Amino acid sequence: MTKTALITGASAGLGLELAQLFASDKHDVVLVARRKDQLEALATRLATERGVVARVIPADLGDPGAPQRIVDELKRRNVEIEFLVNNAGFGTTGPFVERDLLRELAMVQVNVTSLVHLTGLLLPGMVARKSGRILNLGSTAGFQPGPFMSVYYATKAFVNSFTEALSYELHGTGVTATVSCPGATATEFGKVSGNDRSRLFQMRVMSAPEVAAHAYRAMMAGKAVAVPGLLNKVALQMLRLGSRGMVRGVAARLNRDKTSLTVRRSSGS
Ligand SMILES: NC(=O)c1ccc[n+]([C@@H]2O[C@H](COP(=O)([O-])OP(=O)(O)OC[C@H]3O[C@@H](n4cnc5c(N)ncnc54)[C@H](OP(=O)(O)O)[C@@H]3O)[C@@H](O)[C@H]2O)c1
Repeated sequence: MTKTALITGASAGLGLELAQLFASDKHDVVLVARRKDQLEALATRLATERGVVARVIPADLGDPGAPQRIVDELKRRNVEIEFLVNNAGFGTTGPFVERDLLRELAMVQVNVTSLVHLTGLLLPGMVARKSGRILNLGSTAGFQPGPFMSVYYATKAFVNSFTEALSYELHGTGVTATVSCPGATATEFGKVSGNDRSRLFQMRVMSAPEVAAHAYRAMMAGKAVAVPGLLNKVALQMLRLGSRGMVRGVAARLNRDKTSLTVRRSSGS
């Protein structure tokens, strides 16, 4: 039987890769993001190359009404969701006091509130049917405080914690919840978040196809938590060994712009 995956943030990066993985396994897809043209081009390609039904619902998940509108649209088109992928997200970089507060609040809306909202709207149907899988995009950032990306790290702490707890509550229901926790990954994220020149992104980043494939396999296996890549796994073990002060300091250093630090050091300030 054909099953349908709803993927948020499918216009780029990990969401786009995940949409391709679902289509390769002959699952229909519903693609959500703001950039309608990108979504439509992807939908056309998946329908042509993979023979699946690929639907597009353009939506700004920074708008609190968007999740309900998406679910209403699914009902109108008579589409039942078997796989929910809450992937849309972004970050910002810099001291919180200097940030645009409205953008920080929009980040909480996109990364946290819309994820809870879509899950809350679609989960009851999955549980009633005793079948469904949820994949949320958390991050290694969610296991530590992140100076200079403080709100972003905190949103990912929410996603990691919420999903792990949900996964436990869902035991025996036929529905699973998985959180994928990547580290730095080569997508549009670094540029959008103003973090692409940070020390973190100057280190080895994983590719979007390898991270998406890892998350997809973990979701299909019903795992609670999935951390891709040996380096990310080792880094998380180090977090457990270090003091909180040390952990905060390391994250602050990694989030800083590498070039500006070099310039400041060489100019003697
Ligand atoms: N890349 C990394 O290093 C990394 C590491 C750990 C976790 N993650 C997480 O992985 C997820 C995917 O990120 P990515 O790396 O693939 O980043 P990306 O390439 O920037 O893609 C982000 C996606 O989210 C969508 N999006 C952003 N704001 C939106 C909004 N207001 N409404 C609807 N859609 C929105 C974007 O689409 P539109 O712009 O078209 O709306 C885009 O499709 C995010 O949750 C991110 O936090 C990324």
